[in-house]
Amino acid sequence: MPDDKSFHMTPEEFRRHGHAVVDWIADYHSRIESFPVLSQVKPGEIRALLPANAPAKGEPFDALLKDVEKLILPGITHWQSPNFFAYFPSNGSGPGILGDLLSSGLGVQGMLWSTSPACTELETHVLDWLVPMLGLPEKFLSSKAGGGVIQDTASSAVLCALLAARERATNYISNQKGCDGRIVAYASSQTHSSLEKAAMIAGIGVSNLRLIEVDENFAMRPEALARQIEADKRAGLLPCFVCATVGTTSSNAMDPVAAIADICRQHNLWLHVDAAMSGTAALCPEFRHLQDGVEFADSYSFNPHKWMFTTFDCDCFWVADRKALIRTLSILPEYLKNQATESGAVIDYRDWQIPLGRRFRSLKLWFVIRHYGVEGLQHHIRRHVELAQRFAQWVRSDSRFELAAPVPLNLICFRHKGGDAVNQTIMERLNRSGDLFLTHTKLNGKFTLRVCIGQTNTQARHVEKAWKKICEEAAKVTAAA
Ligand SMILES: Cc1ncc(COP(=O)(O)O)c(C=O)c1O
Repeated sequence: MPDDKSFHMTPEEFRRHGHAVVDWIADYHSRIESFPVLSQVKPGEIRALLPANAPAKGEPFDALLKDVEKLILPGITHWQSPNFFAYFPSNGSGPGILGDLLSSGLGVQGMLWSTSPACTELETHVLDWLVPMLGLPEKFLSSKAGGGVIQDTASSAVLCALLAARERATNYISNQKGCDGRIVAYASSQTHSSLEKAAMIAGIGVSNLRLIEVDENFAMRPEALARQIEADKRAGLLPCFVCATVGTTSSNAMDPVAAIADICRQHNLWLHVDAAMSGTAALCPEFRHLQDGVEFADSYSFNPHKWMFTTFDCDCFWVADRKALIRTLSILPEYLKNQATESGAVIDYRDWQIPLGRRFRSLKLWFVIRHYGVEGLQHHIRRHVELAQRFAQWVRSDSRFELAAPVPLNLICFRHKGGDAVNQTIMERLNRSGDLFLTHTKLNGKFTLRVCIGQTNTQARHVEKAWKKICEEAAKVTAAA
């Protein structure tokens, strides 16, 4: 086969098409408010537009970009729209996108320090930066016994924490022999479902995951936790792990970390703090009280890809004792052996996570932190919280609506007093309109609307418009009932 035949994109072609793609993204962000926030397509509609088989011959790049516009865009739910108030945000930013692009450009696979020292060292360094930025305990620093690592998601972080807790509690026997059904883990009934999945994967079993009751604010009752641990111990079981959540997904409830930490210390249990979205608020000292007690945590995670402008995916995970995590997750086959690893002088992040391979995610986080500075990050977080508090006040002062949970930060859970069907219809009509996108939860068995204010470009005018639309739809729905 002749060597000069190539189907690859040349560097010059890459430059030209690359500029076109960046232009397209910039234009997309400028016109994002013109699209319905929630994609309005029906199931199967996008696939029906795609050819049944892959092309035998390559196509010009311009045709690909045209098809993104024509075929893909209608099937996009616009997470980066300032009118996106659903779930928790997955916000992004210019520096985040460009950092991610550079990561692809470098094409690094950073499983070992030696497979790209900068990939490992920048990650360690940026995670060390974040420790004082978020008021986290010094024991999480890589210069102490702990250290931080970037995971894809909070789900992976909690799984790693649970595995390390399991191994620590069984003196590293479960990795060898499997679980014997005696290991028990604890979280509140409001904890994110990723922990249930982690319990399945870790061999602990969902029936050995105790979901502790919550108080009227949906926060874990520490006395109920203590009672359950004691009962399990009396039954000959082996309690090993507690997950406290700072900002539950359903209602942004804050588990009392300090009281839970006391119980964990008493029983020598691993305490993981899941602050997936709300952890970002700790950039502002005035919100740090929400995670008082974090200094006693064995591990902690939050997602810059939720609220800290770091384009998906990026979860930061710290442990107080890196040896426990590494001993739990390390394996060293012959083909990965190298001098740097054997010298013991480097971090090999493959031992801190489930997969072997890993992306150069710290680049985008570094870009975001350097672009905004602590001051810029704090500014936008405070602004989001202020807008959410304003929204909560509108709800409180409107007799047709009620708040369904406290509003510690940027999530408002509220409902129309007309009942479940009215609330569901209001939500469906709003989402069908394309003007905004919000989602729901159930609190105390009642259908509850959720508005989360955390999209990068959400401003007062978007929040004001959202409240106006909600009120208009509520009036229409109740008039028709
Ligand atoms: C409190 C909490 N924990 C964990 C998760 C899971 O996040 P991820 O998608 O990063 O796994 C979420 C997602 O919203 C969450 O709110």
